[in-house]
Amino acid sequence: KSVSVIGCPFSGGQRRMGVDTGPNSLVEAGLIDQLKGLGWQVGFSGHQAFEDVNKEIAKDEDIGVMKNPRVVSEVSRRVASVVEQHARNGSMPLTLGGDHSLGLGTVTGSLRVHPDAALIWVDAHADINTPETTPSGNLHGCPVSFLLGLPGTDVEPFNKWTPPSKALLKPNSVVYIGLRDVDSGERKILKENNIKAFSMHEVDKYGIGKVVDMALDYVNGGEGKRERPIHLSFDVDALDPSVAPSTGTPVRGGLTFREGHYICEALYETGTLIAMDLMEVNPSLMQERDAEQTIAIGCSLIRSAFGETLL
Ligand code: ARG
Ligand code: MN
Ligand code: MN
Ligand code: MN
Repeated sequence: KSVSVIGCPFSGGQRRMGVDTGPNSLVEAGLIDQLKGLGWQVGFSGHQAFEDVNKEIAKDEDIGVMKNPRVVSEVSRRVASVVEQHARNGSMPLTLGGDHSLGLGTVTGSLRVHPDAALIWVDAHADINTPETTPSGNLHGCPVSFLLGLPGTDVEPFNKWTPPSKALLKPNSVVYIGLRDVDSGERKILKENNIKAFSMHEVDKYGIGKVVDMALDYVNGGEGKRERPIHLSFDVDALDPSVAPSTGTPVRGGLTFREGHYICEALYETGTLIAMDLMEVNPSLMQERDAEQTIAIGCSLIRSAFGETLL
């Protein structure tokens, strides 16, 4: 078993500095050796070089309300092809963010190799705004709408490389876990497209074990069936801010430490996980000990998804 660590130092999908240092912090904390310790062959040869794109940020004028549209599009285009390459070579892509706009690239890359894959998006937010509904213009709040090719996403420069008419992802191939801060436009989109979402309300009601089971049953189309390849996109802000404080858009009432890890453990157990993203770790926010805690939790969520068990 082989994993390719794809560090994506990128922050242009939102407005707070520092999330681009997330990948290096995770690696510096020992992530590579931790994965090796779990028996994985680890490919990592430094982080993605986005310097050339990143320096265009100041010049990258808004398109409509979208912030940094050219830079976000170009970075996601590159990430898609890097993820695709590793997946084709049979090495499981593990992408470290960076902000969650990167999810457009990672999931696109996965779907090119595994067109039948389902997406499990663990997040406080639905990240399904379109350029028409986004209240902030921040593209980290929009990747899922582009993946689905929703109305309003057929816009430059994204439509140069991700034609929505051939949307790779179908609404019934996505499941959310952990939602608690969903914009009104996003609620409408979720409802109209009948997208499966387990908010914190459902986590409270059923417990995380049942929620993950229901999510897996849903994407596999049958109780106990566990065949369909799964891409896990984990936004660290799904966790409660008391657990993972150093992130750009914290929302109270989130997943506990164990609930977050349980999701990763249960997905590993299915044997169908084909890619993982760990996004939105921003070590420059809050106190230094908060950053250390958030980085450590990022590493341990990843270890759980790569087979670390409690016994
Ligand atoms: N819904 C808000 C927006 O679109 C917040 C998105 C936060 N996304 C994230 N990946 N942390 O601006
Ligand atoms: Mn989020
Ligand atoms: Mn935002
Ligand atoms: Mn997110």
